[in-house]
Amino acid sequence: MAILVTGGAGFIGSNFVLEWLGCGSEPVVVLDKLTYAGNLENLAAIRGDERFTFAHGDIADQARVAGLLREHAIRAVVNFAAESHVDRSIHGPAEFIQTNVVGTLQLLEAVRAFWGGLPAGPKEAFRFLHVSTDEVYGSLGADDPAFTEEHLYQPNSPYSASKAASDHLVRAYHHTYGLPVLTTNCSNNYGPYHFPEKLVPLMILNALGGKALPVYGDGRNVRDWLYVTDHCSAIRRVLEAGQLGRTYNIGGRNEKTNLEVVQTLCSILDAVSPRAGGGSYWEQVQFVKDRPGHDRRYAIDASRMENELGWLPSETFETGIRKTVEWYLANPEWVLGVTSGAYRDWVDKQYGS
Ligand code: NAD
Ligand code: DAU
Repeated sequence: MAILVTGGAGFIGSNFVLEWLGCGSEPVVVLDKLTYAGNLENLAAIRGDERFTFAHGDIADQARVAGLLREHAIRAVVNFAAESHVDRSIHGPAEFIQTNVVGTLQLLEAVRAFWGGLPAGPKEAFRFLHVSTDEVYGSLGADDPAFTEEHLYQPNSPYSASKAASDHLVRAYHHTYGLPVLTTNCSNNYGPYHFPEKLVPLMILNALGGKALPVYGDGRNVRDWLYVTDHCSAIRRVLEAGQLGRTYNIGGRNEKTNLEVVQTLCSILDAVSPRAGGGSYWEQVQFVKDRPGHDRRYAIDASRMENELGWLPSETFETGIRKTVEWYLANPEWVLGVTSGAYRDWVDKQYGS
């Protein structure tokens, strides 16, 4: 018996796999297409571990998924695989539809066929956990209550629309076929192995590299930040005790404007790695053109996770963000590995010179 983790070479997936093997003995199979965002170096610490199998492949490849489910007697699938960057979805939505919608459909089909053929006990115990996002709920006004699981789906970007579509497919497979599914909708993550196209790692690395810190619009958009290992512990808890067919909102109750996040990062860096020429990293901030359709505010009401499953995050924003900065400072080789070639092309396309 083992679990199958799709997208396990990406940011959250790799943190999940490292933690899974760190806190238990059950084997894990990672299926990952190794797109620009997938990186086997994220899993270097478990290379050679006999409980770990890596399979290079696409969730849209039904035959490949079917083979893995059979060969490894999979008892649960945790689906992280996705195109995940909003700005990229604005430049090119097609890949998002292909992986997030078509890919999820093909994955569900392979899982449904496998699950349908299981004997009663393993069939009842089987789980399909779909990892989704708070962005499916759309944008909140400054005084609106945080998103609950009952909030309407109102996705605003091609990325969030594709994730919303995948959530609906997962829901439909439960309702129509009885597939034992669970869905999690989480807020913004940050932490180790975060690809530096996203706000937190981009700001850390640009600051250290003496580059501009590009803040979109007025910088007052609000995100609800959660340290990545707290997201992983929440997923483990939902997998263990979540009610079938139910969705769970995961968040850290850490609402911050983007300016607050950048300010915090600059202050930590000023203290732990001061600028060679003096002055604060904050001087590198540049306000740039806003993201089209930029959602103003996300906030998660995590009451269901807290009350029904007894889950709470371990990190505050202050402890998590400090650990994150320290991780990037301690891992220059990882940074070098992900900021070459294709990454530079993306930065030119998104930010110009
Ligand atoms: P990521 O972009 O860092 O990683 C995605 C991984 O999926 C990569 O390893 C990539 O190679 C793989 N992948 C992409 N297409 C694939 C395909 N067709 N078949 C197999 N593998 C494929 O993303 P992330 O930030 O780790 O996010 C993981 C999941 O969590 C996504 O579903 C995302 O929507 C969701 N999520 C992310 C956040 C966040 O703040 N990053 C918050 C909530 C939910
Ligand atoms: O809310 C969960 C979502 O969080 C996940 O579903 C997505 O996969 C993940 O990428 C993240 O989406 P965001 O768009 O919120 O994250 P991003 O890091 O791209 O941007 C965070 C905020 O910072 C957002 O308001 C845009 C702003 N931003 C981002 C970048 C990259 C900037 O101001 N400048 C930048 O250069």
